[in-house]
Amino acid sequence: MLIKNVSAKLLVATLVVAAFITPLTSLGQKASPVAPNRAQVEAVVREAYDKFQSNTSGKNADYIPFLAQVDSKMFGVAVVSTDNQIFSIGEVKYAFSIQSISKVYTLALAMEELGADRVFDRIGSEPTGRAFNSVTAVVEMPTHTGNPLVNAGAIATTSLILGKDANEKWSKILDFYSRAAGEKLTLIDDVYKSEAATNAGNKALSMLLAKYERIYADPFESVDIYTKQCSVGVNVIQLARMGATLANNGKNPVTGVQVIKAANVPYILSTMMMAGLYDGSGGWAWKVGLPAKSGVGGGIVAVVPGKGAIAVFSPRLDDAGNSVKAQRVIEYVAEKLDFNLFSPRSVGLKGN
Ligand code: DON
Repeated sequence: MLIKNVSAKLLVATLVVAAFITPLTSLGQKASPVAPNRAQVEAVVREAYDKFQSNTSGKNADYIPFLAQVDSKMFGVAVVSTDNQIFSIGEVKYAFSIQSISKVYTLALAMEELGADRVFDRIGSEPTGRAFNSVTAVVEMPTHTGNPLVNAGAIATTSLILGKDANEKWSKILDFYSRAAGEKLTLIDDVYKSEAATNAGNKALSMLLAKYERIYADPFESVDIYTKQCSVGVNVIQLARMGATLANNGKNPVTGVQVIKAANVPYILSTMMMAGLYDGSGGWAWKVGLPAKSGVGGGIVAVVPGKGAIAVFSPRLDDAGNSVKAQRVIEYVAEKLDFNLFSPRSVGLKGN
Protein backbone atom coordinates (compact mmCIF):
# COMPACT_ATOMS: atom_id res chain seq x y z
CA MET A 1 0.00 0.00 0.00
CA LEU A 2 2.79 2.32 1.00
CA ILE A 3 4.69 1.44 -2.19
CA LYS A 4 1.53 2.11 -4.22
CA ASN A 5 1.19 5.55 -2.62
CA VAL A 6 4.81 6.37 -3.36
CA SER A 7 4.43 5.39 -7.02
CA ALA A 8 1.16 7.34 -7.27
CA LYS A 9 2.94 10.41 -5.90
CA LEU A 10 5.79 9.88 -8.32
CA LEU A 11 3.31 9.61 -11.18
CA VAL A 12 1.59 12.86 -10.19
CA ALA A 13 4.95 14.61 -9.84
CA THR A 14 6.02 13.34 -13.28
CA LEU A 15 2.77 14.55 -14.84
CA VAL A 16 3.15 17.98 -13.25
CA VAL A 17 6.72 18.31 -14.56
CA ALA A 18 5.62 17.03 -17.99
CA ALA A 19 2.84 19.64 -18.11
CA PHE A 20 5.48 22.36 -17.82
CA ILE A 21 7.84 20.78 -20.33
CA THR A 22 5.25 20.01 -23.01
CA PRO A 23 4.65 23.60 -24.14
CA LEU A 24 8.32 23.86 -25.06
CA THR A 25 7.85 21.23 -27.72
CA SER A 26 4.39 22.49 -28.69
CA LEU A 27 1.19 20.54 -28.34
CA GLY A 28 2.85 17.37 -27.16
CA GLN A 29 4.99 17.00 -30.32
CA LYS A 30 8.05 14.98 -29.41
CA ALA A 31 11.36 16.74 -29.95
CA SER A 32 12.57 15.57 -33.36
CA PRO A 33 15.76 13.50 -33.18
CA VAL A 34 16.80 14.86 -36.57
CA ALA A 35 15.73 18.52 -36.63
CA PRO A 36 18.76 20.81 -36.45
CA ASN A 37 19.03 22.77 -33.23
CA ARG A 38 17.97 26.39 -33.18
CA ALA A 39 21.44 27.78 -32.47
CA GLN A 40 22.91 26.04 -35.55
CA VAL A 41 20.09 27.25 -37.78
CA GLU A 42 20.19 30.77 -36.40
CA ALA A 43 23.92 31.16 -37.02
CA VAL A 44 23.82 29.84 -40.58
CA VAL A 45 20.67 31.73 -41.59
CA ARG A 46 22.11 34.99 -40.24
CA GLU A 47 25.29 34.39 -42.24
CA ALA A 48 23.29 33.73 -45.41
CA TYR A 49 21.09 36.77 -44.80
CA ASP A 50 24.11 39.06 -44.42
CA LYS A 51 25.96 37.51 -47.34
CA PHE A 52 23.15 37.91 -49.87
CA GLN A 53 21.34 40.98 -48.60
CA SER A 54 23.04 43.33 -51.07
CA ASN A 55 22.50 41.05 -54.11
CA THR A 56 20.41 42.99 -56.63
CA SER A 57 20.40 40.49 -59.52
CA GLY A 58 17.16 39.75 -61.31
CA LYS A 59 13.96 41.76 -61.49
CA ASN A 60 10.40 41.70 -60.22
CA ALA A 61 7.80 39.85 -62.27
CA ASP A 62 6.01 42.45 -64.37
CA TYR A 63 3.52 40.44 -66.43
CA ILE A 64 1.22 40.74 -63.41
CA PRO A 65 1.18 44.57 -63.02
CA PHE A 66 0.79 44.52 -59.22
CA LEU A 67 4.01 42.52 -58.78
CA ALA A 68 6.09 45.05 -60.72
CA GLN A 69 5.37 47.63 -58.00
CA VAL A 70 6.33 45.50 -55.00
CA ASP A 71 9.41 46.89 -53.21
CA SER A 72 12.17 44.72 -54.62
CA LYS A 73 14.44 45.39 -51.63
CA MET A 74 12.22 43.42 -49.25
CA PHE A 75 13.99 40.32 -47.98
CA GLY A 76 12.91 37.84 -45.32
CA VAL A 77 13.91 34.33 -44.26
CA ALA A 78 12.16 31.87 -41.94
CA VAL A 79 12.93 28.35 -40.81
CA VAL A 80 10.38 26.16 -39.03
CA SER A 81 11.50 22.77 -37.77
CA THR A 82 9.31 19.71 -37.41
CA ASP A 83 9.46 20.17 -33.66
CA ASN A 84 8.24 23.74 -34.10
CA GLN A 85 11.33 25.75 -33.46
CA ILE A 86 11.04 28.96 -35.43
CA PHE A 87 13.79 31.27 -36.52
CA SER A 88 13.19 34.27 -38.78
CA ILE A 89 15.06 37.35 -39.91
CA GLY A 90 14.35 40.40 -42.08
CA GLU A 91 10.96 41.21 -43.61
CA VAL A 92 8.73 38.66 -41.90
CA LYS A 93 5.45 40.60 -41.67
CA TYR A 94 4.76 41.49 -45.30
CA ALA A 95 2.15 39.24 -46.92
CA PHE A 96 3.31 38.56 -50.47
CA SER A 97 1.28 36.57 -52.98
CA ILE A 98 1.96 32.86 -52.79
CA GLN A 99 1.64 32.52 -56.60
CA SER A 100 2.85 29.16 -57.92
CA ILE A 101 3.69 27.80 -54.47
CA SER A 102 -0.09 27.40 -54.16
CA LYS A 103 0.12 24.65 -56.77
CA VAL A 104 1.73 22.31 -54.24
CA TYR A 105 -1.16 22.61 -51.81
CA THR A 106 -3.91 22.33 -54.40
CA LEU A 107 -2.17 19.16 -55.56
CA ALA A 108 -2.22 17.94 -51.95
CA LEU A 109 -5.93 18.75 -51.62
CA ALA A 110 -6.76 17.02 -54.91
CA MET A 111 -5.01 13.89 -53.64
CA GLU A 112 -6.90 14.08 -50.34
CA GLU A 113 -10.13 14.12 -52.32
CA LEU A 114 -9.45 11.76 -55.21
CA GLY A 115 -6.48 9.66 -54.11
CA ALA A 116 -2.98 9.88 -55.56
CA ASP A 117 -3.54 7.40 -58.41
CA ARG A 118 -6.42 9.29 -59.95
CA VAL A 119 -4.57 12.59 -59.73
CA PHE A 120 -1.48 11.04 -61.33
CA ASP A 121 -3.65 9.57 -64.07
CA ARG A 122 -5.38 12.88 -64.84
CA ILE A 123 -2.37 15.19 -64.54
CA GLY A 124 0.92 13.22 -64.69
CA SER A 125 4.26 14.17 -63.20
CA GLU A 126 6.76 14.76 -66.03
CA PRO A 127 9.09 17.75 -66.00
CA THR A 128 8.44 19.91 -69.05
CA GLY A 129 11.91 21.46 -69.41
CA ARG A 130 10.10 24.58 -70.58
CA ALA A 131 8.80 27.81 -69.10
CA PHE A 132 6.06 27.50 -66.49
CA ASN A 133 3.43 28.94 -68.86
CA SER A 134 4.56 27.07 -71.96
CA VAL A 135 2.00 26.44 -74.71
CA THR A 136 4.30 24.11 -76.64
CA ALA A 137 4.57 21.81 -73.60
CA VAL A 138 0.79 21.40 -73.65
CA VAL A 139 0.79 20.66 -77.35
CA GLU A 140 3.81 18.38 -77.43
CA MET A 141 3.68 16.38 -74.20
CA PRO A 142 1.71 13.14 -74.36
CA THR A 143 -0.13 14.03 -71.14
CA HIS A 144 -0.67 17.67 -72.26
CA THR A 145 -0.93 18.63 -68.59
CA GLY A 146 2.77 17.83 -67.87
CA ASN A 147 2.77 18.01 -64.09
CA PRO A 148 0.75 19.75 -61.35
CA LEU A 149 3.34 22.52 -60.86
CA VAL A 150 3.35 24.16 -64.32
CA ASN A 151 0.45 26.46 -65.16
CA ALA A 152 -1.42 24.06 -67.45
CA GLY A 153 -1.12 21.10 -65.06
CA ALA A 154 -1.97 23.32 -62.10
CA ILE A 155 -5.12 24.72 -63.71
CA ALA A 156 -6.16 21.14 -64.51
CA THR A 157 -5.40 20.13 -60.90
CA THR A 158 -7.56 23.00 -59.62
CA SER A 159 -10.33 21.75 -61.92
CA LEU A 160 -10.27 18.43 -60.02
CA ILE A 161 -11.29 20.01 -56.70
CA LEU A 162 -14.78 18.88 -55.82
CA GLY A 163 -17.57 21.32 -54.93
CA LYS A 164 -21.10 22.28 -55.90
CA ASP A 165 -19.95 25.62 -57.34
CA ALA A 166 -16.89 27.84 -57.76
CA ASN A 167 -17.35 29.44 -54.33
CA GLU A 168 -17.38 26.14 -52.53
CA LYS A 169 -14.27 24.96 -54.39
CA TRP A 170 -12.43 28.20 -53.66
CA SER A 171 -13.29 28.23 -49.97
CA LYS A 172 -12.13 24.62 -49.63
CA ILE A 173 -8.81 25.54 -51.21
CA LEU A 174 -8.31 28.59 -48.98
CA ASP A 175 -9.27 26.60 -45.90
CA PHE A 176 -6.82 23.84 -46.83
CA TYR A 177 -3.96 26.33 -47.30
CA SER A 178 -4.84 27.89 -43.93
CA ARG A 179 -4.64 24.50 -42.23
CA ALA A 180 -1.24 23.88 -43.82
CA ALA A 181 -0.06 27.29 -42.54
CA GLY A 182 -1.65 26.83 -39.13
CA GLU A 183 -3.50 30.13 -39.33
CA LYS A 184 -6.15 31.81 -41.43
CA LEU A 185 -4.86 33.06 -44.76
CA THR A 186 -6.65 35.57 -46.98
CA LEU A 187 -6.85 36.65 -50.60
CA ILE A 188 -4.91 39.79 -51.62
CA ASP A 189 -7.67 41.37 -53.63
CA ASP A 190 -5.42 43.79 -55.55
CA VAL A 191 -3.20 40.95 -56.74
CA TYR A 192 -6.23 38.93 -57.80
CA LYS A 193 -7.71 41.85 -59.76
CA SER A 194 -4.35 42.64 -61.37
CA GLU A 195 -3.82 39.04 -62.51
CA ALA A 196 -7.45 38.44 -63.49
CA ALA A 197 -7.23 41.43 -65.84
CA THR A 198 -4.09 40.12 -67.55
CA ASN A 199 -4.40 36.31 -67.58
CA ALA A 200 -5.31 35.72 -71.23
CA GLY A 201 -2.39 33.28 -71.49
CA ASN A 202 -3.75 31.04 -68.73
CA LYS A 203 -7.21 31.17 -70.31
CA ALA A 204 -5.65 30.06 -73.59
CA LEU A 205 -3.92 27.17 -71.80
CA SER A 206 -7.24 26.11 -70.28
CA MET A 207 -8.92 26.07 -73.70
CA LEU A 208 -6.07 24.00 -75.13
CA LEU A 209 -6.50 21.54 -72.28
CA ALA A 210 -10.22 21.41 -73.10
CA LYS A 211 -9.34 20.51 -76.68
CA TYR A 212 -7.29 17.55 -75.38
CA GLU A 213 -9.96 16.67 -72.74
CA ARG A 214 -7.43 17.23 -69.97
CA ILE A 215 -9.40 19.73 -67.87
CA TYR A 216 -12.13 18.44 -65.58
CA ALA A 217 -14.43 21.41 -64.91
CA ASP A 218 -15.36 24.58 -66.77
CA PRO A 219 -12.03 25.94 -68.13
CA PHE A 220 -12.55 29.63 -67.31
CA GLU A 221 -14.05 28.88 -63.91
CA SER A 222 -10.94 26.78 -63.19
CA VAL A 223 -8.62 29.60 -64.30
CA ASP A 224 -10.48 32.03 -62.06
CA ILE A 225 -10.15 29.77 -58.99
CA TYR A 226 -6.51 29.16 -59.90
CA THR A 227 -5.93 32.94 -60.13
CA LYS A 228 -7.44 33.35 -56.67
CA GLN A 229 -5.28 30.61 -55.20
CA CYS A 230 -2.18 32.35 -56.64
CA SER A 231 -3.30 35.61 -54.97
CA VAL A 232 -3.37 34.23 -51.43
CA GLY A 233 -1.14 36.28 -49.12
CA VAL A 234 1.50 34.64 -46.93
CA ASN A 235 4.34 36.03 -44.91
CA VAL A 236 7.59 34.15 -44.86
CA ILE A 237 6.88 32.48 -41.49
CA GLN A 238 3.50 31.21 -42.66
CA LEU A 239 5.14 29.88 -45.81
CA ALA A 240 7.83 28.10 -43.79
CA ARG A 241 5.08 26.52 -41.67
CA MET A 242 3.35 25.30 -44.82
CA GLY A 243 6.64 23.69 -45.82
CA ALA A 244 7.19 22.28 -42.36
CA THR A 245 3.81 20.55 -42.62
CA LEU A 246 5.21 18.62 -45.58
CA ALA A 247 8.48 17.98 -43.77
CA ASN A 248 6.52 16.62 -40.82
CA ASN A 249 4.76 13.88 -42.80
CA GLY A 250 1.73 16.06 -43.51
CA LYS A 251 1.10 17.04 -39.89
CA ASN A 252 1.26 20.75 -39.09
CA PRO A 253 3.99 21.01 -36.43
CA VAL A 254 2.32 24.04 -34.85
CA THR A 255 -1.29 22.91 -34.58
CA GLY A 256 -0.69 19.15 -34.53
CA VAL A 257 -3.37 18.72 -37.24
CA GLN A 258 -2.76 16.02 -39.87
CA VAL A 259 -3.46 18.21 -42.91
CA ILE A 260 -2.07 15.95 -45.65
CA LYS A 261 -2.17 12.15 -45.63
CA ALA A 262 1.33 10.94 -44.83
CA ALA A 263 1.16 8.49 -47.75
CA ASN A 264 0.74 11.39 -50.20
CA VAL A 265 3.76 13.37 -49.02
CA PRO A 266 6.36 11.49 -51.13
CA TYR A 267 4.34 12.14 -54.30
CA ILE A 268 4.25 15.84 -53.53
CA LEU A 269 7.94 16.10 -52.65
CA SER A 270 9.09 14.14 -55.69
CA THR A 271 7.01 16.40 -57.94
CA MET A 272 8.56 19.46 -56.27
CA MET A 273 12.02 18.02 -56.82
CA MET A 274 11.41 17.51 -60.53
CA ALA A 275 9.40 20.59 -61.37
CA GLY A 276 9.30 22.99 -58.42
CA LEU A 277 11.63 25.50 -60.07
CA TYR A 278 10.38 24.85 -63.62
CA ASP A 279 13.17 24.85 -66.17
CA GLY A 280 15.54 25.68 -63.31
CA SER A 281 14.67 22.42 -61.51
CA GLY A 282 17.56 20.32 -62.84
CA GLY A 283 20.18 22.86 -61.81
CA TRP A 284 18.49 23.23 -58.44
CA ALA A 285 18.52 19.46 -57.83
CA TRP A 286 22.18 19.36 -58.84
CA LYS A 287 23.24 22.16 -56.53
CA VAL A 288 20.83 21.96 -53.60
CA GLY A 289 19.15 18.55 -53.62
CA LEU A 290 15.97 19.59 -51.86
CA PRO A 291 12.33 19.60 -52.98
CA ALA A 292 11.27 23.22 -53.32
CA LYS A 293 8.68 25.43 -54.92
CA SER A 294 8.94 28.98 -56.19
CA GLY A 295 6.39 31.66 -56.98
CA VAL A 296 6.66 34.80 -59.10
CA GLY A 297 5.69 36.79 -56.00
CA GLY A 298 9.29 36.19 -54.87
CA GLY A 299 8.80 33.32 -52.42
CA ILE A 300 10.53 29.96 -52.39
CA VAL A 301 9.95 27.22 -49.86
CA ALA A 302 12.29 24.23 -49.56
CA VAL A 303 11.41 21.12 -47.58
CA VAL A 304 13.88 19.00 -45.63
CA PRO A 305 11.96 15.80 -44.88
CA GLY A 306 11.80 14.99 -41.17
CA LYS A 307 13.69 18.16 -40.28
CA GLY A 308 11.80 21.27 -41.33
CA ALA A 309 11.41 23.89 -44.03
CA ILE A 310 13.06 27.11 -45.05
CA ALA A 311 11.14 29.90 -46.77
CA VAL A 312 12.65 33.01 -48.31
CA PHE A 313 10.97 36.08 -49.77
CA SER A 314 12.78 38.42 -52.18
CA PRO A 315 10.93 39.70 -55.27
CA ARG A 316 13.74 39.83 -57.85
CA LEU A 317 13.51 36.82 -60.18
CA ASP A 318 15.79 35.08 -62.65
CA ASP A 319 14.75 34.24 -66.22
CA ALA A 320 12.95 31.06 -65.14
CA GLY A 321 10.77 33.05 -62.68
CA ASN A 322 12.58 31.97 -59.50
CA SER A 323 13.68 34.43 -56.79
CA VAL A 324 17.43 34.93 -57.14
CA LYS A 325 18.17 35.71 -53.49
CA ALA A 326 15.87 32.97 -52.21
CA GLN A 327 17.78 30.41 -54.26
CA ARG A 328 21.15 31.66 -53.01
CA VAL A 329 20.09 31.69 -49.35
CA ILE A 330 18.58 28.21 -49.44
CA GLU A 331 21.58 26.83 -51.31
CA TYR A 332 23.92 28.29 -48.68
CA VAL A 333 21.92 27.05 -45.69
CA ALA A 334 21.42 23.58 -47.21
CA GLU A 335 25.13 23.25 -47.86
CA LYS A 336 26.19 24.44 -44.38
CA LEU A 337 23.65 22.23 -42.58
CA ASP A 338 24.14 19.14 -44.78
CA PHE A 339 20.54 19.12 -46.00
CA ASN A 340 21.14 17.86 -49.57
CA LEU A 341 19.06 14.67 -49.69
CA PHE A 342 21.38 13.07 -52.21
CA SER A 343 24.41 13.54 -50.03
CA PRO A 344 25.26 10.74 -47.59
CA ARG A 345 26.15 13.55 -45.17
CA SER A 346 22.43 14.39 -44.91
CA VAL A 347 22.01 11.24 -42.82
CA GLY A 348 25.13 11.83 -40.79
CA LEU A 349 27.73 9.90 -42.82
CA LYS A 350 30.92 11.92 -42.85
CA GLY A 351 33.65 11.41 -45.41
CA ASN A 352 36.11 13.30 -47.50
O1 DON B 1 -0.25 31.85 -63.46
C1 DON B 1 0.71 32.58 -63.30
O2 DON B 1 1.42 32.95 -64.23
C2 DON B 1 1.02 33.05 -61.90
N1 DON B 1 -0.17 33.20 -61.14
C3 DON B 1 1.89 32.07 -61.18
C4 DON B 1 3.19 31.79 -61.90
C5 DON B 1 4.32 31.48 -60.99
O3 DON B 1 4.34 31.79 -59.84
C6 DON B 1 5.50 30.87 -61.63
N2 DON B 1 6.58 30.86 -60.66
N3 DON B 1 7.66 30.90 -60.52
